[in-house]
Amino acid sequence: MAGVAQSLMTEDFRKLYGSAEGVRIFRAPGRVNLIGEHTDYNLGFVLPVALDLATYIAAAPSTDGKLRIYSEFRKEMREWNVADLAALTPARHWTDYPIGVAQELLCAGLAIAPANLLVRSSVPEGSGLSSSAALEVSTALAFLAGRLLDPLDLARLCQRAERNFVGMPCGIMDQYISVFGREHSAVEIDCRSLGRRFVELPAGITFVAVNTMVKHALAGSAYKDRVAECAAAVAGIKEKFPGVESLRDVSPEQLESVAPSLPAVVERRARHVVTEDARVGRYVEASTRGDLALMGELLVESHRSLQHDYEVSCAELDFLVDTALAIDGVLGSRMTGGGFGGCTVTMLRPDAVARFGQEMARAYQRQFQAAPQIYACRPSAGAGEVKDSEEF
Ligand code: GLA
Repeated sequence: MAGVAQSLMTEDFRKLYGSAEGVRIFRAPGRVNLIGEHTDYNLGFVLPVALDLATYIAAAPSTDGKLRIYSEFRKEMREWNVADLAALTPARHWTDYPIGVAQELLCAGLAIAPANLLVRSSVPEGSGLSSSAALEVSTALAFLAGRLLDPLDLARLCQRAERNFVGMPCGIMDQYISVFGREHSAVEIDCRSLGRRFVELPAGITFVAVNTMVKHALAGSAYKDRVAECAAAVAGIKEKFPGVESLRDVSPEQLESVAPSLPAVVERRARHVVTEDARVGRYVEASTRGDLALMGELLVESHRSLQHDYEVSCAELDFLVDTALAIDGVLGSRMTGGGFGGCTVTMLRPDAVARFGQEMARAYQRQFQAAPQIYACRPSAGAGEVKDSEEF
């Protein structure tokens, strides 16, 4: 049955736009971050996995000078004159993501041709599984329509779109993993050098994401606050250690020695980042040795640090983590992504998955009167064009 979903999408495109002449389909995955949270914009380390949940865009040239984008999820069609794209300002609307990407492509000297786009996504929005980056990267590929761009430039361009147009001062993790994901692997990213190492996860474990189904309004503003608090920490630490350019450069001992001179909140934020960076390295090392117990402990340490020092968790996330940790076969659990809602990621034994799903759903329903969505995290390939024989 290979190619069925692809031909269905082509068919839906034809119904929407009247013709599917020249249509191509591009895919960009969402992600779950295993460990290394709020470290990317501090130029540290992260360990995400690209998921098989992805955004697909069917795109074909249009002949009337317009760019049209239809979102199935929003059931909404928008259109612009291609000639006007460069001058558009943010509309605080989902189309800010594709328009931001269009503007960054134009800035890079890459023309945008008139086109019709159909957006379909299995990445749940607001879930912390990076639906934004999946939309940015898939639209960038659709706008490029086969023109080649260095993959690292593609990830950075999409990050700039989010920072400059959407106004979210994000790090590089989400766009990077959407481009560079690999089947069966997590990817350790050095967010300063932008180098990567593929990490094959040990046998005998699997990962599951559980969605709180909430995204608290605080998420955007708190993210910006954290970015600013980290900058304040760097400024404070620099007074004693002038070589420090970002929290990535700070050792636990250095932080200890300047702690009394930093405001308490700033010191706690820095402590999260410095210890979290170290945890990524220890997790990868434990994974290489197959030390499942230590891997699990590090996930829990990461969560507690995000909960108490970085303060980006929330009651729903804490409940999911605590509930998971009491279930047989669970090795570790933590919030994943920016926080204030979205998902947890849990590391568990494969034979515990079914029971885990039932127990989590039951407990969450009882506590919050809501059904949490649960996703298997299958490490998947990064973004690209969907070829003829591919199923999705
Ligand atoms: C969001 C941002 C990422 C990263 C995470 C937290 O997903 O887009 O760049 O900062 O939060 O780790």
